[in-house]
Amino acid sequence: MLVCPASANLLARMAGGLAEDLASTLLLATDAPVMVAPAMNVRMWEHPATRQNMAVLAERGVEILPPDTGAMACGEFGAGRLPSPAAIRDAVLAFFLRRERKSGPLAGLRALVTAGPTHEPLDPVRYLANRSSGRQGYAIAQALAEQGADVTLVSGPVTLAAPVGVRLVRCETAQEMQAHVMQAMPCDVAICTAAVADWRPETEASQKIKKTGDMRPPALTLVPNPDILAQLCALGTGRPGLVIGFAAETETVQAHAQAKRARKGCDWLVANDVSPQTGIMGGDENEIMLITADGVETWPRMSKHDVAKKLAGRVAGWWRDVR
Ligand code: C5P
Repeated sequence: MLVCPASANLLARMAGGLAEDLASTLLLATDAPVMVAPAMNVRMWEHPATRQNMAVLAERGVEILPPDTGAMACGEFGAGRLPSPAAIRDAVLAFFLRRERKSGPLAGLRALVTAGPTHEPLDPVRYLANRSSGRQGYAIAQALAEQGADVTLVSGPVTLAAPVGVRLVRCETAQEMQAHVMQAMPCDVAICTAAVADWRPETEASQKIKKTGDMRPPALTLVPNPDILAQLCALGTGRPGLVIGFAAETETVQAHAQAKRARKGCDWLVANDVSPQTGIMGGDENEIMLITADGVETWPRMSKHDVAKKLAGRVAGWWRDVR
């Protein structure tokens, strides 16, 4: 049960075990876990009576979502503001994730997910990048966590909020991503959704590159970036039990993807068509092919969240079999 907003009065009735209206009666009668989101004037929040009531409730196992500090409706300033709806939602979600970590289908599984683009600097203000939004990778990290996995998400620069219950490691370049991925080893499952830049400028100028008198553009020499997916697949004894690659293609998707699965040495490969007319890159939906040793499955177009849930379900099937 979530009590939101939890007034000083209701918290006092909970602490005292009163059952004088529907809310307090339900709270006394329930055997469900209870979370409270207190909201009140700062002096009421700091009053010894409220302090004592909170201590009693905490002692009984009630989860307390601490109030925010800031300007209050009454004109005072301090602790007692109701946290934002998003923070309350995340706290409730985190509660259920902690439970899944103990008993969900992916309990005990350590997962690594890479997501987003990488930025490869030319100089302190310019970089090479791509259009990846990171949405599919973030949705997969969230879906794995919701089924109880312990998830590390290594993400290039994106504008997305951190998924709840996921360890988020941010980075900029392919080389930084590679270092963070290797630090996250060992793990059971690695899912590489990141659109890692294949090349980076050979040198990063220490100062902004200036236009020359003759206006001739600077030459751009590129060198290859490490292939993180291929490296994970080649790890030998430290190799994750299941490695899943992604292939963003704009033509002959299936043939390119099957060749990529073999070349990289991954177990499963998720292929999609990112031609501009599909609206997939940066969009909310995806239409994928799952390529495994058993063959090719074509999934209907669905939201990236649904692709993530379905893929997490497949991972759970694999985990059941290997555990
Ligand atoms: O070779 P390509 O970039 O098409 O391969 C895509 C797959 O390889 C994705 O799973 C991507 O995350 C991964 N990859 C990688 N490191 C790179 C390039 C791609 O992990 N340098």
